[in-house]
Amino acid sequence: MSNFAGDGLTGTQGTVASDAAIAREVRRRRTFAIISHPDAGKTTLTEKLLLFGGAIQMAGTVKARKSGRHATSDWLEIEKQRGISVASSVMQFTYDDCVINLLDTPGHQDFSEDTYRVLTAVDAAVMVVDAAKGVEEQTIKLLEVCRLRNTPIITFINKMDREVRDPLEVLDEIESVLKIKCAPVTWPIGMGKRFQGVYHLLNDEVMRFTPGEAKADQEVEVLQGSQIDQLARQCPSEMQTMRDETELVGGAGASFDLHEFLLGQQTPVFFGSGINNFGVREVLRALVDWAPSPLPRETDVRVVQPTEAAFTGFVFKIQANMDPNHRDRIAFLRVCSGRYSSGMKVKHRRTGKEMKLANAVTFMANERMRMDEAYAGDIIGVHNHGQLQIGDVLTGGEALTFKGIPYFAPELFSRARLRDPMKAKQLQKGLRQLGEEGAVQVFEPLLDSTPLIGAVGQLQFEVVEHRLKSEYGVDAVFERAGIHTARWVTCPDTMHLNEFVKANQSRLAHDADGNYAYLADTGVNLRLTMERWPKVQFHATREHGQRL
Ligand code: G4P
Repeated sequence: MSNFAGDGLTGTQGTVASDAAIAREVRRRRTFAIISHPDAGKTTLTEKLLLFGGAIQMAGTVKARKSGRHATSDWLEIEKQRGISVASSVMQFTYDDCVINLLDTPGHQDFSEDTYRVLTAVDAAVMVVDAAKGVEEQTIKLLEVCRLRNTPIITFINKMDREVRDPLEVLDEIESVLKIKCAPVTWPIGMGKRFQGVYHLLNDEVMRFTPGEAKADQEVEVLQGSQIDQLARQCPSEMQTMRDETELVGGAGASFDLHEFLLGQQTPVFFGSGINNFGVREVLRALVDWAPSPLPRETDVRVVQPTEAAFTGFVFKIQANMDPNHRDRIAFLRVCSGRYSSGMKVKHRRTGKEMKLANAVTFMANERMRMDEAYAGDIIGVHNHGQLQIGDVLTGGEALTFKGIPYFAPELFSRARLRDPMKAKQLQKGLRQLGEEGAVQVFEPLLDSTPLIGAVGQLQFEVVEHRLKSEYGVDAVFERAGIHTARWVTCPDTMHLNEFVKANQSRLAHDADGNYAYLADTGVNLRLTMERWPKVQFHATREHGQRL
């Protein structure tokens, strides 16, 4: 967006920003996602963060976009009508001279593949935990993904205005279940109706809690020294418990260590109440003060530094029909180095073709905005009609591919049966395009012409069925295929691989990139096949665009 054009940068096409100017812009950037189990408070926190950043004026803007969690049918209707995920996009705002990119992730677990890919595009994550529930299933899965890249995690323990679990117990659970050390930065004083606020362990001050949604951050009362003693006289039991507990955690030696945080080994923990906008500012400060600016990225040939002058970026998400008035697809590209300027020409690594990048957009709540320039860490939305796929790399000219954008082996399989056999071509086209978007994975069995559709969650099928009908005019019914899981197979010995293919033709399929996938009907079948063919490798993940 033009509002942060730095000096030393010229906005016209083809000009190169000075190294110092790029370095300065990179230093200001923070790119993160919020991860949580549904209902822990992700949407609420997103909204409060945007309020702080001045990105929205009114509470309720983000919430309004959120699909009804409790009315799955309503939600599905919206999702179906507008493509996979209404609620998932990218928001940029400035806070304390930092440019913050917040990448939203779909809350529903059936779209977890989409979430995994979003996590490859961030440099940090905020984990929201419901203080009453502790660590929940979806959080465990998401944290596993963060761990693959050692993503630094900031923890927000939410809903302290309710009767919740003992904070020590919740911390213990995070440490034992998620295998990450906790360093409490704030500690709650009471909870529920007796919630008085939090004690800031590093600043030795108390932030007083007063319930009320509309409260701005400067209204939070901060107590120091004798004022804290006075509070201790007012609510001796809560203050004493807080002192005992902080002594206990302090004794366990869990003080905040920036280095360990950056390695993803320790998480600073904040307590608060998102809905009351309490404790949110501290999370934002942690992002600004501690979270890393855009990190170097590994490629197949070398490590790309964010401050390099040459432009590089990769597509981590494709979204169709963001807006019913614009029936196009938007590829979300994470800039990894250099500077994007409107109208610049880049090389599309997969096809080797030159592409002109014009009219990239960014998103704010419901609206899209034109983006004139972008640096490492920023996400730009590129309109396209199918040229860009997930995992695609755009560069100033260099031939390189970023690593680590995974496909996961599907756990659910269906066959699309056409109601009108004349529509086979459209079905093929629709499935190919939806596969490229990452909405589902499409496999072509070696011995059967009916494509197999793989997904991680059932809702993916329902959305694809709906989109085939509305966008491609294809009326197809999805029938469950009796397949337990898929494994991509490779073998350095081509002769041996050919033998394997010959012997297992009925269970093999090609994926969209032409790789062999073994489709096991049961877990036992997979195990026995693996035992029978020890020289063949079976992979549960593969990288986008990768020819194994
Ligand atoms: P999610 O995106 O992680 O799914 O969660 P979301 O923010 O939508 O929050 C889930 C529910 O928890 C919402 O209530 C929300 O108002 C509530 N909530 C969030 N933060 C807090 C908090 O700090 N304290 C309390 N007491 N509640 C909180 P809901 O009734 O499901 O929805 P709504 O009617 O409030 O919209």
